[in-house]
Amino acid sequence: MGRMAIVAGTGFDQLDELILEEELTGSTVWGTPAAPVQRGRLGGAPVLFLSRHGHQHQFAPHAVNYRANLQALKDAGASGILAVYTVGGIDAGLVPGSLVVPHDLVDYTWGRESSFSTEGNVIHVDMTEPFDAGLRRRLLAAGRELAGADEPPVVDGGVYACTQGPRLESPAEVDRLERDGCTVVGMTGMPEAALARELDLPIAAVALVVNPAAGRGGISLDAMAKVAAAGRERIIRILAAAVH
Ligand code: HPA
Repeated sequence: MGRMAIVAGTGFDQLDELILEEELTGSTVWGTPAAPVQRGRLGGAPVLFLSRHGHQHQFAPHAVNYRANLQALKDAGASGILAVYTVGGIDAGLVPGSLVVPHDLVDYTWGRESSFSTEGNVIHVDMTEPFDAGLRRRLLAAGRELAGADEPPVVDGGVYACTQGPRLESPAEVDRLERDGCTVVGMTGMPEAALARELDLPIAAVALVVNPAAGRGGISLDAMAKVAAAGRERIIRILAAAVH
């Protein structure tokens, strides 16, 4: 049986909690992933870990080689993916520190290599359910089980807007995302989720709200980093429970 893979970005460039067994260096047919895939144990469970932007956070969201990242996980024997996103909250109830397990997404990115299709091998995948129901349930159950009294709940469902970045949005852009039905906004969920589907890897995500989206409250990059750091431990606990 394969291992569950964790793919995480901002705030998780290193996963110090991982008991490292092996680092899988090397390239894929699509190029080199942002970092070597790490095999190890998280809370006793066997997992794979990939730092989405690289261990030094050297690849911006639009510059990540998502195909290499996903292929490296597939080659390493991943059976599914738990992704971590940091996001801005569009929905008014999603104050910084909230966690959301999205059920759907809208892709606003452009110019990213977003498919494994090649001439002669055209791949069409069904995105009716971009996030796997079984993995979502695992994340939600772990989130509920581990919720501290003073912690905001883990929200079941949300629509993740993936923007191009690396800049944040203008208020009018966020208004547009809201009109489109999006409740959170980040920069890395696509093409990751579509590529996972092309490789037949079920994927679900937990999104940490680190700021109100533009025009919804003050944005401070400093405050965002602080919320990301504060939410980190909680997310790792949830992941460790969900991979069992
Ligand atoms: N917009 C896009 N991506 C983000 C945001 C945001 O407000 N916050 C964290 N990642």
